[in-house]
Amino acid sequence: MKAPMDRWYVGLVRSLVLVLGLLVAGQVAAVELSKKNIEAALDAAYKKYKGLQEGANADYIPALAKVDSNIYGIALVTTDGKVYSVGDIKSEVSIQSISKVFTAALVMDESGPRSLEENMGVDATGQVFNSIVAIEQYKGAEMNPLVNAGAITATSMVKGEMYGDVWGKIESTYNNFAGRKLPLLQDVYESEAATNQRNQAIAHLMFAYGHIKNDPLRATDIYTRGCSVGVNAKDLAMMAATLANAGTNPVTGKQAMKSENVPELLAVMATAGLYDDSGKWLYKTGLPAKSGVGGGIIAVSPGKFGIAVISPPLDAAGNSVRAQKAIADISEALGGNPYEPAK
Ligand code: DON
Repeated sequence: MKAPMDRWYVGLVRSLVLVLGLLVAGQVAAVELSKKNIEAALDAAYKKYKGLQEGANADYIPALAKVDSNIYGIALVTTDGKVYSVGDIKSEVSIQSISKVFTAALVMDESGPRSLEENMGVDATGQVFNSIVAIEQYKGAEMNPLVNAGAITATSMVKGEMYGDVWGKIESTYNNFAGRKLPLLQDVYESEAATNQRNQAIAHLMFAYGHIKNDPLRATDIYTRGCSVGVNAKDLAMMAATLANAGTNPVTGKQAMKSENVPELLAVMATAGLYDDSGKWLYKTGLPAKSGVGGGIIAVSPGKFGIAVISPPLDAAGNSVRAQKAIADISEALGGNPYEPAK
């Protein structure tokens, strides 16, 4: 009597599992990061914005004004290590403020995520990236490691007796994220070092308020060197993909930062990565991201992919015009928004 009942019950469960499986498979297919989907999304965004003539190169650092405004490259790296690109992925531009993310990663790993939170804060300032008003408002607190004051302070927190010790750690952190030895663009470094009096003033203020505890000019110089590292679109996408992959470079397999610190770092990128336009960006894309005045933007779709675009012309907030548009389109096409509920 029992056996036929059992068989009937087992059959029903199997059918249910099958139907559920098909439903799940359907969902996965809807957001599948296939070669075809990714290449189509990259090509479409590349073509759509190639002719866009908006914005202008940063010129407050003289070397940046001389960079070719037509450089335009897009790269996407998935967390399983597949690399896609379109356009100019050979030209190197200076990483600029995107470096702040990776210096913050190093400080978090060395001293814990609370070290940044307790020193300069983790809140968007709502001000331009080199705002002095933002420092004055809360005596150097209530800001974040992605604006100049916070980033120079974070640089001063990297452990090391000598300049070379600190720089060596920063450089190798960036290299581990990118998966190759990145060059220093000496012309950019010299140009910025000769004109960074505002950052020196910012560093002195952060010292006066007790956030920087060693030589503020040394911290400013090491920060400037970090901003002058050369990257192409593929390097930046690899760095973003390492964040998407919980801190391990998906191609080299090398751990670049501790996985437990990645969520906090992505949260700061989400709230402050595009400076005073961070809210608009997050509203539109849901992606933690970071821009640099060299023309690059990285964005992270956690667990899925890292993406980067390089295009030097910037908008008024200091964010690449083409990069913002191309990344938003590509992420939308590939279901990259982490806030998007599963359908
Ligand atoms: O300190 C500076 O002003 C530059 N080295 C970096 C600024 C930057 O990239 C801001 N980006 N949007």
